[in-house]
Amino acid sequence: MLNVILFGPPGSGKGTQSEKVIEKYGLVHISTGDLLREEVAAQTDLGKQAKVIMDKGELVSDTIVIGMIRNKLEEHQDSPGFIFDGFPRTVDQARELRKALSDYDERVGVMISLEVAREELVKRLLNRGKETGRSDDNLETINNRIDVYDRQTMPVTYYYDKMHKHAAVDGTGSVDKIFERIVEAISKVKS
Ligand code: AP5
Ligand code: MG
Repeated sequence: MLNVILFGPPGSGKGTQSEKVIEKYGLVHISTGDLLREEVAAQTDLGKQAKVIMDKGELVSDTIVIGMIRNKLEEHQDSPGFIFDGFPRTVDQARELRKALSDYDERVGVMISLEVAREELVKRLLNRGKETGRSDDNLETINNRIDVYDRQTMPVTYYYDKMHKHAAVDGTGSVDKIFERIVEAISKVKS
């Protein structure tokens, strides 16, 4: 299996680039944000709880998110691999991912972090807020999402640094140019 983590702050292009990675490598996409938004749309109990947290730009509990990941791994055992988008977001989530994959004798191949300056992130997200009305794309929540990323999520990069699996990629420029950089990083994964 090829297991790739697409990491980066809100608005760095994880969703946009995931689509291209899936097309090229046939991986199964696991976006915890999308899974949570599905729960919100279906108005499940979990969705109702998650919406309050997401609208503030805080993180949903590790236990909930890890449960969703384990279900997806179980569902797609015979896939060529996974792309994790927006997960792991805490060091505990990274440790749990390692355990969950090792249950299938699998592991993370590379963790690619998209680097984009704060002003550009805010600009992209305000723009998407206007176009799609995503409820956490307003200035107050955007600022908190980026602060939460800096405080709680950035440390995940050190976890993968230590395992020599972290590849930093410039997340600015055209979507195709960024994708070329991602393909280059994936090409270095040892099988
Ligand atoms: P999540 O859905 O993961 O949102 P996010 O991390 O805030 O990131 P986004 O989806 O906003 O951005 P993206 O990096 O995917 O960028 P995109 O490609 O869309 O999480 C939402 C919430 O769910 C969290 O706040 C949290 O509450 C909860 N949650 C999710 N996962 C969790 C977890 N593991 N643990 C706990 N809680 C969790 O691009 C953004 C915009 O920029 C788009 O309009 C796009 O068209 C544009 N764009 C993309 N590339 C470019 C480019 N190269 N140039 C110009 N514009 C571009
Ligand atoms: Mg996204």
